[in-house]
Amino acid sequence: MQQRVISGQAQPAERQGERSLRPRHLSEINGQEKVVQNLQIALAASQARGEALDHILFYGPPGLGKTTLAHVIANEMGVHCKVTAGPVIERTGDLAAILTNLKKGDIFFIDEVHRLNRAVEEVLYPAMEDFALDIIVGKGPSARSIRLRLPRFTIIGATTRLALLTSPLRDRFGAIYRLDFYSLEAMEQIICRSAQILAVGIDEGGIQAIARRSRGTPRVANRLLKRVRDYAQVMADGVITDGVAQAAMRMLEVDDLGLDEFDRRVLRTIVEKFDGGPVGVTTIAAATSEEPDTIEDVYEPYLLQLGFLQRTPRGRVATRWAYEHLGLPYPEETAGAAVVQGTLWED
Ligand SMILES: Nc1ncnc2c1ncn2[C@@H]1O[C@H](COP(=O)(O)OP(=O)(O)O)[C@@H](O)[C@H]1O
Ligand SMILES: [Mg+2]
Repeated sequence: MQQRVISGQAQPAERQGERSLRPRHLSEINGQEKVVQNLQIALAASQARGEALDHILFYGPPGLGKTTLAHVIANEMGVHCKVTAGPVIERTGDLAAILTNLKKGDIFFIDEVHRLNRAVEEVLYPAMEDFALDIIVGKGPSARSIRLRLPRFTIIGATTRLALLTSPLRDRFGAIYRLDFYSLEAMEQIICRSAQILAVGIDEGGIQAIARRSRGTPRVANRLLKRVRDYAQVMADGVITDGVAQAAMRMLEVDDLGLDEFDRRVLRTIVEKFDGGPVGVTTIAAATSEEPDTIEDVYEPYLLQLGFLQRTPRGRVATRWAYEHLGLPYPEETAGAAVVQGTLWED
């Protein structure tokens, strides 16, 4: 698959480089003020009591800082952070091995926590609630269950899809934080900080030009910054200005709002093949040869945020803004009727 510059999803080769740009302290986190404030209080309180933090769940689109926050919290608490992901823990034994190796106060970060299998999840419930691990010893009639006590630890879960989490698992997180797309101002601060770390020359106009096209997503901002830096080095005098950034973006086919060819194709599909919708995600996925999950995780949140798409019970509808952005005439009558139909269905 072609790699997208503006996707919030991490690309494998990127993971190493990301580490240097990743904030290490809460004070370095720009934006997400409410989440940061709540975390500051939770951290201070648990440190004062000398206790482990409550289990925390972060959810939101890719690239907004879920993994970063988990590491920042571990760093601020001065504890170890064991990192894994839902699909990696295949057997209950894998989970037991991790849990029995945790020390008091340690953080156990589970990315894609909605992808844990059911058997593993069931072992996790008592571990999260009672800090206990029930294991079966022996086989057949002589088998018996013994309960191992675990030290008090903290699970930090991350997911792009809160709705896919089972409710017993969700209920075991003491705090659930939703990460939203960042404001333009926060994006500018993040780009400024990253440029300093990367030692890239950039002026105010350059910062703004990249911030506006970063889809409110730090990972996208950092990626665009690196690509524009390359362009500035080769095609200009190395300093990123508004003009340099715009020229680089044109080459990357990222438009003024940070949409790329893939986003525009999704919009155009809805508009041209399905009369503006409503059309279901799986149908859009089939028509664009994409995975439905990718549509929902990567394309849709930002298109919804821009107001280009509307979610109705019968599927997605392209709005007037989407038509305007694509430079297509908005069919007043028909599109209006489609939205009304969608609403009626809901009643
Ligand atoms: N608040 C922030 N301030 C500065 N950089 C950030 C912030 N949040 C995320 N980043 C950057 O974006 C990248 C992606 O963040 P990450 O935590 O991996 O996102 P997620 O886990 O939600 O997909 C990180 O490498 C980091 O450099
Ligand atoms: Mg992550």
